Amino acid sequence: MSVRSLLFVPGDSPRKLDKGMASGADALIVDLEDSVAPERKAEARAGALAFLAEAAAAAGRPRLVVRVNGLDTGLIDADLDAVVAGRPDAIMLPKAEGGASLLHLDAKLAVREAQNGLPDGAIAILAIATETAAALFLAGSYAGASPRLSGLTWGAEDLSVELASETNRDAEGRFTAPYVLARNICLAAAASARVQAIDTVYVDFRNEAGLRREAEEARRDGFSAKMAIHPAQVAVINEVFTPAPAAIAQAQAVIAAFAAAPEAGVVGIGGVMFDRPHLERAKQTLARARSAGLG
Ligand code: COA
Ligand code: MG
Repeated sequence: MSVRSLLFVPGDSPRKLDKGMASGADALIVDLEDSVAPERKAEARAGALAFLAEAAAAAGRPRLVVRVNGLDTGLIDADLDAVVAGRPDAIMLPKAEGGASLLHLDAKLAVREAQNGLPDGAIAILAIATETAAALFLAGSYAGASPRLSGLTWGAEDLSVELASETNRDAEGRFTAPYVLARNICLAAAASARVQAIDTVYVDFRNEAGLRREAEEARRDGFSAKMAIHPAQVAVINEVFTPAPAAIAQAQAVIAAFAAAPEAGVVGIGGVMFDRPHLERAKQTLARARSAGLG
């Protein structure tokens, strides 16, 4: 599952769920966790299931992800009992702490897939890898833990509570050092697990320039998607994470040059050296272009 934009929608808001379907997001994250008050969890579960049942059949629909409550909340079993019947494409696990937490969720999903007559492994996992201090030290353990893992993302809000930071952004709106560390750990963890690295949300949702800057910096560093909290953020994110025509042309030129010289480890194009890592990057670019519907 390769996506560019993932829009959070509170699970207890049918109106926003409908709006999410029309937002152009590649994926919707129906939230049962932080955006839903404790006394509305049951309503959100029922709303999420009703939404999944209806949205599944929509033509050209976004991927449907449900963010459940964390493994230590006492809420996750009831969340999964409610939503697996609606066969979401993926479950997002907040406050994940490495490969052990993936195994835990994997087992919970396998039981419910069997109970609902779904193929084993039908539901993927996206994990939020940096929401606790301990999680930062466990991020290297995702690789190989569960074949369900299809993406890693990170979060700065819960982490700032754990770290007791006064703020997580500076006066210019850039993340402060501990949160840049968390971001970079997520990027490396995703690369080592060979899954998509998904950048965190930009909460200042009327600031389009700030969102664009943060998304472009994420793409520059290796993230291939970003989460959104408001429909107005989706078009910017899709644009930033869709390979530009020049990037696609460049990737095609690199692939063509290596195809013309199959024995070569290195080629020159227009006075610049390209070696095997560049070939891999070119293939990644074209794969992303294809999943964005280009080429
Ligand atoms: N998904 C779908 N629709 C959304 C939306 C979202 N995430 N956020 C806003 N909208 C809709 C609103 O319902 C509104 O439509 P309406 O007037 O027809 O009802 C329209 O977009 C414009 O919304 P706006 O007035 O600009 O924002 P708001 O004050 O209503 O909502 C938030 C602001 C932050 C409460 C809202 O964007 C939101 O709920 N975001 C998701 C929060 C979340 O899930 N957080 C957890 C992850 S960090
Ligand atoms: Mg949170």
